Amino acid sequence: MIKSCQQHGFPGRGTTILPCIQKSGNRILIFILFFFFMLPVNIVIAADESGGDNENHYSPGLKRGERLFYGLIEGKFQGNACGDCHNTMEIDTFNWNPNAWEIAHKYKDRSVEEFQKAVLNPTGRTMSVTHTSFNLNEAEVELIKKYLDHFEEQGLTKQKPIINKILLFLLLGALLTWIVLEVLFLKKVRRKWILGVLFIGALGWQIQLLLDAGIALGRQENYEPDQPIKFSHWVHVTDNHIDCNYCHHTVEHSKSAGIPETELCMNCHIIVREGTYSGRHEINKLVNAYENGDPIEWIRIHNLQDHVFFSHAQHVAVGKIECRTCHGPIENMHRVKQVTDLSMGWCINCHRDTEVQFFENDFYDKYEALHRAVKAGEIERVTAEQVGGTECSKCHY
Ligand code: HEC
Ligand code: HEC
Ligand code: HEC
Ligand code: HEC
Ligand code: HEC
Ligand code: HEC
Repeated sequence: MIKSCQQHGFPGRGTTILPCIQKSGNRILIFILFFFFMLPVNIVIAADESGGDNENHYSPGLKRGERLFYGLIEGKFQGNACGDCHNTMEIDTFNWNPNAWEIAHKYKDRSVEEFQKAVLNPTGRTMSVTHTSFNLNEAEVELIKKYLDHFEEQGLTKQKPIINKILLFLLLGALLTWIVLEVLFLKKVRRKWILGVLFIGALGWQIQLLLDAGIALGRQENYEPDQPIKFSHWVHVTDNHIDCNYCHHTVEHSKSAGIPETELCMNCHIIVREGTYSGRHEINKLVNAYENGDPIEWIRIHNLQDHVFFSHAQHVAVGKIECRTCHGPIENMHRVKQVTDLSMGWCINCHRDTEVQFFENDFYDKYEALHRAVKAGEIERVTAEQVGGTECSKCHY
């Protein structure tokens, strides 16, 4: 099977007989594989570089401010340094302390004296606990402010992009390319069925990855964004026994549960000005928004597409379904997380399984035929499906 280069008309070199087609085929193969393997590496490097900071422009004062902030200079902190509590990276986990960007932003246009006062002469319970044991003089705090002013422009350091799936996708692509080359040109592997199995497997996996990505675009299970104010359901519902309906006061009689307006928060926070976990920083944001008349821009978490109709009143008041059935244990969350995918299958499955509170419920008086069937013993229970819960038009406009 081995054909020498001479046989193909290429000038060979003396006695070495090289399998010419295979050699150039291998080169192409190696090149293609190299290309595919290197591509993700390049992406990572590029992402890294764009995320990196431009240390070169640092003046000595700025550099010292940064080192002070992170506690890299001996003897300045007995316990934590600023950077240990006021984090400078974007993080996934919930953290009560204001992050470095928040404090930088707040004090950017304020005087150095004001900043020095906040750091060195703390007021309030939380500040007196956290802002002690600093061995800093005023000049050093000024340098820290200088660093923070610079940091404000730069923003929190971004996390690295999730490239694992892209990497996997590209590797599968490389495998597929190799199989095609092998079948058409290289013809080295004897057992062709292995290639067939590999091909179908790799292609199937790629399609699966694409489908997952496509579906995830419209859905947000596990979505858990940081809110503009660290409002905690745990603190309000579990610790302070406030009823869901006190804040989400439209939930019983309207389509939407609604997010409470700032005035409602102020019923209590006109008095309560310091929280156990966050100190004054978060409640101050609330009070400032109220005094300036700025709306608080809560980030919406649960969000059905526009073509779907969903009513809270229908489920909570008529269906007597508890909030936690659909929203999970909100009362134990410091930061709200969506626990279901809100897909059509989720709605339909529940409508098939859930018995409605059919009796002693005025809403169902109109279903005479069903009432008769139950009385005659033909059916034992009535599900949401039987009162129309799986008809397209009930949920779709
Ligand atoms: C003191 C007022 C208050 C109380 C009490 C309260 N909430 Fe909330 N709730 C809010 C605020 C403010 C938001 C918006 C900020 C956030 O998402 O944390 C919110 C958000 C939510 C969200 C997410 C909304 C979205 O954007 O999708 C759900 C779900 C929710 N609350 C359910 C509940 C349930 C269930 C209870 C009772 C266990 C409850 N809430 C009690 C004030 C309250
Ligand atoms: C019915 C009274 C009441 C209402 C209404 C209320 N809160 Fe509170 N809030 C409290 C109490 C009590 C605390 C706990 C104070 C403490 O920890 O000592 C608190 C604490 C907080 C904290 C600090 C949490 C901590 O422990 O650090 C924030 C932030 C907050 N509330 C924001 C809000 C917002 C925003 C609203 C409106 C959506 C709101 N609150 C509505 C009573 C209320
Ligand atoms: C042990 C943790 C901890 C350390 C260390 C710490 N802080 Fe704080 N800092 C906090 C907390 C918590 C708050 C919010 C308390 C409050 O608002 O009542 C805060 C608040 C602040 C504020 C005021 C924010 C506002 O709302 O006005 C500034 C400014 C600040 N810190 C700067 C610094 C600097 C600079 C350092 C280092 C010299 C530092 N912090 C070290 C925990 C810490
Ligand atoms: C049958 C499931 C179900 C139950 C029970 C339920 N919710 Fe919801 N909730 C949803 C869905 C679905 C959405 C998204 C609605 C949309 O995007 O139109 C939502 C959205 C919300 C929102 C965001 C704002 C809004 O109105 O769209 C809040 C707040 C909320 N629910 C609170 C509650 C509270 C409080 C209860 C209990 C009294 C409750 N929910 C019971 C399914 C449910
Ligand atoms: C936890 C169970 C559960 C989930 C999840 C649920 N539902 Fe329901 N739904 C019910 C029950 C029970 C009823 C019947 C009570 C009633 O008709 O008032 C109902 C009734 C309805 C009705 C009225 C049907 C009629 O006959 O008028 C609509 C519309 C509806 N649901 C839409 C939705 C949509 C859209 C979703 C998903 C986003 C959803 N539901 C998720 C339990 C659920
Ligand atoms: C109980 C409520 C409910 C019923 C009944 C229902 N749907 Fe849906 N449907 C939904 C929800 C919720 C979504 C949104 C899914 C999402 O956002 O991923 C949806 C999405 C869709 C979509 C868009 C595809 C998608 O995933 O976004 C189509 C098409 C659709 N439904 C068709 C139908 C047809 C046809 C029927 C009748 C056989 C029907 N639906 C009955 C709740 C329902």
